[in-house]
Amino acid sequence: MDKFLVRGGKPLHGKIEIGGAKNSALPCLAATLLTSETVILHNVPYVKDLITQRRLLEDLGATALTPELRTHKVTARHIERFEAPYELVKTMRASVLALGPLLARFGQAKVSLPGGCAIGTRPIDLHLKAFEELGATVSLEAGNVVARAPEGGLVGAEVDFEKVTVTGTENVMMAASLARGKTIVRNAACEPEIEDLADLLNKMGARIRGAGTPTIEIAGVEHLGSAEHTIIPDRIETGTFIVAAAITGGEIEIKNCRPDHLSAVIEKLREAGVVIEELNPSTLHVKVASDGLAAADVTTEPHPLFPTDMQAQYMALMTQARGTSVIKETIFENRFMHASELIRMGAKIDISGNTATVHGRTRLSGAPVLASDLRASASLVLAGLAADGETMIDRVYHIDRGYESIVPKLRSVGADIQRITEAAA
Ligand code: EPZ
Repeated sequence: MDKFLVRGGKPLHGKIEIGGAKNSALPCLAATLLTSETVILHNVPYVKDLITQRRLLEDLGATALTPELRTHKVTARHIERFEAPYELVKTMRASVLALGPLLARFGQAKVSLPGGCAIGTRPIDLHLKAFEELGATVSLEAGNVVARAPEGGLVGAEVDFEKVTVTGTENVMMAASLARGKTIVRNAACEPEIEDLADLLNKMGARIRGAGTPTIEIAGVEHLGSAEHTIIPDRIETGTFIVAAAITGGEIEIKNCRPDHLSAVIEKLREAGVVIEELNPSTLHVKVASDGLAAADVTTEPHPLFPTDMQAQYMALMTQARGTSVIKETIFENRFMHASELIRMGAKIDISGNTATVHGRTRLSGAPVLASDLRASASLVLAGLAADGETMIDRVYHIDRGYESIVPKLRSVGADIQRITEAAA
């Protein structure tokens, strides 16, 4: 397993370019199953999760070409299987996004029930309940979700999510696009990735209105066709690099980003003393205020409020801020695993239920640490950049799932970080 070796203490300086959003590319790739025509997606990040998603499409019978590293050309004309197997789903929960399109286009879908993961049990009960509202029958057979549409296909309905669910909203939007009649989704997730998926679906001929707001209207159509679409920039990668500049006391320019997609993050970081200037709608300039970082409390909430995917990175930053900050995690039940690793590096953090209290500022010392999930890994890299001495981060396969070229990108702005590839045993 690869490791990262980070030698801290170097302020970052220079320019970094942001890649495509992993959490938009995943549903957009799944949406290619909704048509027999070719769909071309640009700016797809070259990360493990997207390689897995492409392999799933090929497993189902689609042709998935990459004429360029970050361009995917998918033709789901000859779909022979309607099942996302366990060995794929267990490595990537986002495979459940195949459910909606398979059910809508072929009337059937079988997806291994995803297990929980490090950050929580992460059920998909709300996805399944929504499919039943659209007329599907859903059963659990030997660990697989088996869904069948009624004769004549899915029927538009009113879907009222009792909890905001990002992939649940995406799954229903895709399924309803080919249902007979109109679907209204209430308490829908409002993330920019939802809007990006709706943009793609509408380019394919869907009739979706309200994506990005809590109420989405989908008028079902007979069939969807070809489209070409560019994935939006990754707002979490953007937030991660803003923190990288701030935690090292550096000064960087972040290009190809969408500041309007992470307003709550920018606002909170400014409150904490990070000077963030929008040079233009796709470029940020970041440095730390002269009097340094100040503790600021935060609670994670669905978009447009502070995203849970930035909580771990923010916690690392708060260890370097003057004062005590209270971080509340309201989305996932077990998303503080990075805290124990930060404590090993010298941070002073008290955890009580879904609340972490960070006592800053503490000097961090490099140490061997263990990554547990994608964003926790990023948090440990950030802490290593600020720490005295060497930090060896193990199990970095987690970070490879969602950050393209994070080592070369950080090295390009002066970080002393290298990937150690363990010789195959
Ligand atoms: C998406 O996961 C993202 N993944 C996650 O990003 C992100 O953390 C999460 O949304 C929240 O923003 C992708 O988009 C591929 P949810 P998702 O359904 O859709 C509960 C990353 O780091 N819930 O919005 O799986 C659930 O347990 C990843 O890139 C149910 O109870 O999250 C959680 O507590 C991590 N039943 C809450 O809702 C359901 O049927 C929000 O989950 C569905 C969800």
